Amino acid sequence: MIVCVGNTKGGVGKTTLAVNLAIARALTGRDVWLIDGDRQGTAQTAISIRAEGGHSPGIACSQYSDGPTLRAQVQQQGRKFDDIIIDAGGRDSTALRAALVLADVLVVPFQPRSYDVWALADIAGLVDEARSVRDGLRAFAVLNCADPGESSADNLEAAAAVADVPQFKYLATPLRRRKAYANAAGSGLSVLEAKPVDRKAVDELQALVNALF
Ligand SMILES: Nc1ncnc2c1ncn2[C@@H]1O[C@H](COP(=O)(O)OP(=O)(O)OP(=O)(O)O)[C@@H](O)[C@H]1O
Ligand SMILES: [Mg+2]
Repeated sequence: MIVCVGNTKGGVGKTTLAVNLAIARALTGRDVWLIDGDRQGTAQTAISIRAEGGHSPGIACSQYSDGPTLRAQVQQQGRKFDDIIIDAGGRDSTALRAALVLADVLVVPFQPRSYDVWALADIAGLVDEARSVRDGLRAFAVLNCADPGESSADNLEAAAAVADVPQFKYLATPLRRRKAYANAAGSGLSVLEAKPVDRKAVDELQALVNALF
């Protein structure tokens, strides 16, 4: 399955989510290809740190921030992998547009803040465009850096706001703001592997993986 983690808004957790999803799938024995579609190359850096640390499973990772190259490479090489996770950079880039034409699923992380909710309308326009040239793109919005607690007013409001953007289905498997995500990423690890184990982070990531795949 090809999953694009994308949002035209920056800093919403795309790379964090993409790296965690890629590793989570690899831990179940799938051959995973993580594509860093962002010129910043943050996902690529995380995977390099992982490789240097000798952590297994290893993750195949490539960086293509140019849309036509990304598309051509996935078309040529994609069949070798069970899952392809594309981290598409934080703006309306050619890489993001290419990824939307290739992906089975778009996951849009957003934070429970007004600017993030408004930005959903922006990426919804790109979803419409992609759907006009292809069939079957499923698009999900998922809360990242959600506030603690089940009933935070901001979380509930943000979730409800997704109903106003018909291009997206809201995935009720939020990731909360937890140090474990940032700490794990710094070592090229997912929260599923990082020590000490943050049980809540593990459970919520697993719930998201189960919902997506
Ligand atoms: N659930 C979370 N809890 C705590 N920190 C988080 C969480 N998700 C992401 N972060 C932190 O927020 C920052 C931004 O996350 P990340 O780099 O994944 O976002 P991005 O959307 O890829 O940004 P960019 O648009 O710059 O590519 C990072 O420092 C990351 O460690
Ligand atoms: Mg990023």
